[in-house]
Amino acid sequence: MGNLKNFFRDDQSFDRLYPEHFRCISKKHWTPLLVAQQAAEFLAWPDAKILDIGSGVGKFCMIGAKMYPGTVFFGVEQRQELVSCAEDARKTLGLQNVEFIAVNLVQLDFSGFDHFYFYNPFFENIDFANRIDDSVETSVALYAYYTLYLRTKLDNMPVGTRVASYQGPGNEVSENYLLSQSLLGGLLNMYIKTR
Ligand SMILES: C[S@@+](CC[C@H](N)C(=O)[O-])C[C@H]1O[C@@H](n2cnc3c(N)ncnc32)[C@H](O)[C@@H]1O
Repeated sequence: MGNLKNFFRDDQSFDRLYPEHFRCISKKHWTPLLVAQQAAEFLAWPDAKILDIGSGVGKFCMIGAKMYPGTVFFGVEQRQELVSCAEDARKTLGLQNVEFIAVNLVQLDFSGFDHFYFYNPFFENIDFANRIDDSVETSVALYAYYTLYLRTKLDNMPVGTRVASYQGPGNEVSENYLLSQSLLGGLLNMYIKTR
């Protein structure tokens, strides 16, 4: 495998951790290295627990975990195949501060986490042309349901909770969150709960 640092050089290098069928959809579905680094910088604190909502093959979590060994990165993902792939990559990298959870987000207790990241996870419910696979149910009704579910969960988190959202529509975050930074022409938005 050579020097493990080489995986973190650029996106092409990192995506070598994954099998070809997941590598070739990276540009569309997985967080770019630079975005993961910027989001992790905003979210990571010593001893904090960060959750990637819809963690896919774990790219955000593993890039963050490598940068911040004192922070624990969790990923919740509904597709078991992606979780297995993420876990294989985690083992290759030897990262101890990452954990992947194979459930639908509605089955997860959010109270164990401090700060949150997501890359437009529910878009597959309204973007019929670009799904990862057909293994999960998708629908316009589910898009609305998941979005409201996440918004409500985030709204119940304590003041000071941080959220980084990549390519999201913004409606997962209520007016109780203040937009703190907006990067990459508005694609990466960082919020802090203020009330
Ligand atoms: C655009 S991908 C982003 C993957 C990863 N966060 C990254 O940035 O590399 C969105 C992921 O969210 C997952 N997802 C969508 N709805 C979900 C749900 N209700 N529960 C858990 N995972 C979900 C999808 O399976 C997909 O892997």
